[in-house]
Amino acid sequence: MNPKLITRREILKRTSKVTLGASAAAITASRTTSAFSQQDSGEKQIRIGVAGGGFGAGFHWHEHPNCLVTGVTDLRPDRRERLKDRYRCDTVYESLEIMLRDARDIDAVAVFTEAPNHEKHVRMCMERGLHVISAVPACLTLEEAERLTELKETTGLKYMMAETSYYRHYCIAAREFFQENRFGELFYSEVEYYHPHIGDRISPLSYYKGERTWRYGYPPMLYPTHSTGLLVGVTGEKMTEVSCLGWGNPDNPALQDNAYQNPFNAASALFKTDKNHMCRCNVFWDGTAEGERAQWFGTKLTFYMPGSSGQPLRLQGPAAPDWKELPDYWNRLPGTMTHNPGHGGSHPFLSHEFVRALVEEREPVINLSISLDMTVPGIVAHESAQKGGEQLKIPQF
Ligand SMILES: NC(=O)c1ccc[n+]([C@@H]2O[C@H](COP(=O)([O-])OP(=O)(O)OC[C@H]3O[C@@H](n4cnc5c(N)ncnc54)[C@H](O)[C@@H]3O)[C@@H](O)[C@H]2O)c1
Repeated sequence: MNPKLITRREILKRTSKVTLGASAAAITASRTTSAFSQQDSGEKQIRIGVAGGGFGAGFHWHEHPNCLVTGVTDLRPDRRERLKDRYRCDTVYESLEIMLRDARDIDAVAVFTEAPNHEKHVRMCMERGLHVISAVPACLTLEEAERLTELKETTGLKYMMAETSYYRHYCIAAREFFQENRFGELFYSEVEYYHPHIGDRISPLSYYKGERTWRYGYPPMLYPTHSTGLLVGVTGEKMTEVSCLGWGNPDNPALQDNAYQNPFNAASALFKTDKNHMCRCNVFWDGTAEGERAQWFGTKLTFYMPGSSGQPLRLQGPAAPDWKELPDYWNRLPGTMTHNPGHGGSHPFLSHEFVRALVEEREPVINLSISLDMTVPGIVAHESAQKGGEQLKIPQF
């Protein structure tokens, strides 16, 4: 291991208040063996349960030739109906807990519940012996990251994080330029996610039936993966140190009183990576800019991703291809899935990758380790911002 990398155990020795590995015995005891059913072709058919009918109703499990949706669940009746219609599945459960208790025909679960519950819900599924794909972020604390890592090591089950930036088509292009060594040394990147007002008091997403949702006052750097995914998803490098500053709009009442004691609705981090490279990473819930975007700077190629604020595609340098537009990546999917529901065309690609990983019995490309490489730097960045920008080391999982 690179001696410059600080391990998760070293960090947790300093910070952890939780007991590690508490549930390993329970996991082994309750694990069930998945018996995938088979398609006519002889290939496995993955039986998936879907939890969460907001964002979770926008995926393509029902269209995949190797996948059957065998259960859907949401706490909200309207969302149960939505999931039932979307995935054409009549087996509806009133909660994830009930689905895990009663369902006998499920190999994997798509956990699309609210962010602060991801680790708990993923753990419940894996303790039942089920593979999991979850929405971002994988977790909110270092202790949760540690628990997920232990669970993965104990069970050997597959975990994937549904990070949409990974399959934005410009990110696929950048990843392939990197694999072809076109960038030369990719020494600096700027990655950013701007979603104005999402956690503010004025956002409808901050309330349900008059009650605050998890988004009310949510810290920007605890939602880092749309930004960090645009570096980790291209080069695979690990962020090792961070200094981050946060800003809170004094006119935003959600910052005065929220479940996270969070004073920021914009944060800007400067990361150092294990390759000694630099990455400037922004997550803003304020201002007027919108969208997810990156700029990658190499010694032979600079790639400016187009943005929803009107920034053009630009490829600069001796290794730049003569592109006016992106290549067509849609032919990498089964024909039933070639449509673009948003988030840069990523949803069918994420669905396809998770299903194929289970069919082929391999790790998904955004496996737990890579998911934590995208998630954990934000957790430490938020801590740095709370300490006025102090440079902190990032534990590796
Ligand atoms: N581009 C992206 O990757 C992207 C975009 C949007 C949302 N997300 C993520 O997806 C997740 C879901 O987002 P959302 O906007 O739908 O959030 P949401 O809060 O609107 O919906 C979460 C749903 O989970 C359900 N739920 C919670 N606990 C449950 C349980 N025990 N059993 C069954 N259902 C349960 C809730 O009833 C709710 O309908 C969030 O973590 C969010 O961060 C990612």
